[in-house]
Amino acid sequence: MSLIELKDVYKIYNEGQESQVNALDGVSLAIERGEFVAVIGTSGSGKSTMMNILGCLDIPTRGVYLLDGQPVGEKSQRELSDLRSRRISFIFQGYNLIPSLKVWENVALPMAYQHISLQERKERALAALKAVEIDAKAENKPGQLSGGQQQRVAIARAMATRSPILMADEPTGALDSKTGAQVLALMRQLNAQGTTVILITHDNGIAAQADRTVRVMDGHIVHDSLWDGALVPAEGRAEVRAS
Ligand SMILES: Nc1ncnc2c1ncn2[C@@H]1O[C@H](COP(=O)(O)OP(=O)(O)OP(=O)(O)O)[C@@H](O)[C@H]1O
Ligand SMILES: [Mg+2]
Repeated sequence: MSLIELKDVYKIYNEGQESQVNALDGVSLAIERGEFVAVIGTSGSGKSTMMNILGCLDIPTRGVYLLDGQPVGEKSQRELSDLRSRRISFIFQGYNLIPSLKVWENVALPMAYQHISLQERKERALAALKAVEIDAKAENKPGQLSGGQQQRVAIARAMATRSPILMADEPTGALDSKTGAQVLALMRQLNAQGTTVILITHDNGIAAQADRTVRVMDGHIVHDSLWDGALVPAEGRAEVRAS
């Protein structure tokens, strides 16, 4: 069973109106545990829409999303948020740190939903901050850090949470190339430890560092490096990989 499976998924905004957008237009995709996949495409191609669905932040208009074999569309809001906090960490382009909390408290926050003691939360947060070499700023507020430093805090948060899946939407978009390379190296390290990584980018150079690239255009998958030259029709791929 695949970790993630989209079966003919549509996300349609303003359906039936003149302004209708088929942000995802019949997408089928299977991702196995331990993969490092880059989703690449130009602005407006549907990358963030796909990540929001994969991350259970949004549900498809039509089609089926199976996470660990379970249909996400049949779950309640509460079940979805529970699923997210147990299974998925996010890194967003805008870092999404809480400004009123100290750096270490930000890193420790998702663990609070995993019923981990405060002492262990703090220990794990500090260890993760050390791993990304930002532990000196543990007591600072995020606003006192540079963009690259805040992005490393966001990665530390994902590391400390130890979620099996990491989803990152343009995590290096706002960073200079050196800091971007560091962030990418940290994501590779997490992947080497078993985390399934889904990285969204419009940058071909960054995508080239993933094991697999999936190219999205106008809500369609137009290329998947896994199926380069493969003679398996799209409908049969999930079944072939599962067997
Ligand atoms: N809430 C919404 N309502 C209506 N249309 C939307 C909404 N969100 C996204 N769209 C449209 O869906 C399409 C895909 O958007 P999406 O944000 O997934 O693109 P993207 O590939 O992430 O682009 P970028 O690289 O600029 O972040 C775009 O045409 C966008 O305008
Ligand atoms: Mg986007």
